[in-house]
Amino acid sequence: MMNEGMVNVSYIIATILFILALGGLSNQETARRGNWYGIVGMTIALLATVFSEDVYANYDKLIVALLIGGTVGVILARRVQMTQMPELVAILHSLVGLAAVAVGYANFMGHGSGFSGIELTIHDIETYVGILIGAVTFSGSVIAFGKLSGRISGKPLTLPARHWLNLGLLIGAIWFGREFVLQSAAGSGMEPLIIMTVIALLFGMHMVLAIGGADMPVVVSMLNSYSGWAASATGFMLGNDLLIVTGALVGSSGAILSYIMCRAMNRKFLAVIAGGFGTGGGVAASGGEDQGEVVPISAEETAALLADAKEVMIIPGYGMAVAQAQHTVFEITKALRAKKVNVRFGIHPVAGRMPGHMNVLLAEAKVPYDIVFEMDEINEDFPDVDVSVVIGANDIVNPSALTDPNSPIAGMPVLECWKGHTSIVLKRSMATGYAGVQNPLFFLDNTRMLFGDAKETLDEVLKAL
Ligand code: TAP
Repeated sequence: MMNEGMVNVSYIIATILFILALGGLSNQETARRGNWYGIVGMTIALLATVFSEDVYANYDKLIVALLIGGTVGVILARRVQMTQMPELVAILHSLVGLAAVAVGYANFMGHGSGFSGIELTIHDIETYVGILIGAVTFSGSVIAFGKLSGRISGKPLTLPARHWLNLGLLIGAIWFGREFVLQSAAGSGMEPLIIMTVIALLFGMHMVLAIGGADMPVVVSMLNSYSGWAASATGFMLGNDLLIVTGALVGSSGAILSYIMCRAMNRKFLAVIAGGFGTGGGVAASGGEDQGEVVPISAEETAALLADAKEVMIIPGYGMAVAQAQHTVFEITKALRAKKVNVRFGIHPVAGRMPGHMNVLLAEAKVPYDIVFEMDEINEDFPDVDVSVVIGANDIVNPSALTDPNSPIAGMPVLECWKGHTSIVLKRSMATGYAGVQNPLFFLDNTRMLFGDAKETLDEVLKAL
């Protein structure tokens, strides 16, 4: 068994490792090291907890719980496809929320001993806030999971007077909080606690239901932040410093990530949370218009164009992930570089379905980092680009985001490939992308469409090269 001092030292070491992990993850080259810091930190934290006085001698329960949880985790992690990652993340957040609720109730029912007076009040508030955040995180994440996996419609649910409804729920939660603290001092308090839990569950559901599909990435990262605050609140309830700090790290990094994503999509954070986005009258208009004819191109012609080019920009999107075409993309890149063609990758911050989605795939295919650029670094360069290859991307190269104020993606910065000499768009059909809007890029004179599954067509291009 470890004494309290040893446990505390271990917790401090783990905290430092978690901070180093976050620092490492901010850059592709150091991400692997960052992950290792995180793994080692978490191992130390787990061991210190397992050998601490609180847990010692309760190993039978602990082992059963670890076996059940561990088995479910391993099976899920092995089954999940890269493209389902956001759903998995969402449902994992729900578990953090659920845990905070369970710990809160256990803590309340078990307290009796120890606290009185102001200490009891503080403890009660910790418990109440912990359960509140936990319940919002839980129900919100379950709905987010439903939306991301297509089990629930991505359309925002806009109830009449929904902002007033939210305000009412908030006031209710505060009122029952007061009741709870008063009643708890007199030895009861279960009733207001249960009512608040129901309110918080409804609030979490309503909040995420009101948010349209196109804003879901921000919502997932926001729920990530909530799950951190829920963990932090649990730390206060249990008097566990490591949990408080780790929760705060997750909470604030999730909040910062949400903010960065909002900026990338040119949306205001509060407007995202308020929901209702994606229903405006503009959707049907921009989707239904007759935009003219598209010009198809064959794989052989594509190969010829690429081989003749000096500057090539590859713009990957969600379709590259679906087709798992990243390895072929890199083979083509190598073939072109051998022909002295300058090949670069332009990555939009919300390409794919999760932050860093494209970077992960390209790293997996071993594309060197120094030819992978973020949108801001290369968006000015398109006039000098001979051929842009748009691989399964749609919304992130949609010029109407800049020109049509009624478009649901109006104001989102996009990769301006149409300013280059030729754009070749790889996709299977004329279907729309995530935001559900038609893309005028496909109909431009200097755009060619290479129809088919991206992996198959790129294999043909590679053969022709
Ligand atoms: P999308 O706009 O969703 O377009 C993807 C395109 O890929 C589709 O038009 C589809 O057309 C094509 N495609 C699908 N499977 C394919 C395959 N096997 N082979 C070839 N093409 C295929 O993707 P994007 O341009 O990457 O934009 C991302 C969108 O997702 C944005 O609206 C963004 O806001 C949203 N979003 C982003 C995130 C994050 S954080 N990255 C998270 C959630 C949502 P066909 O069906 O015709 O093939």
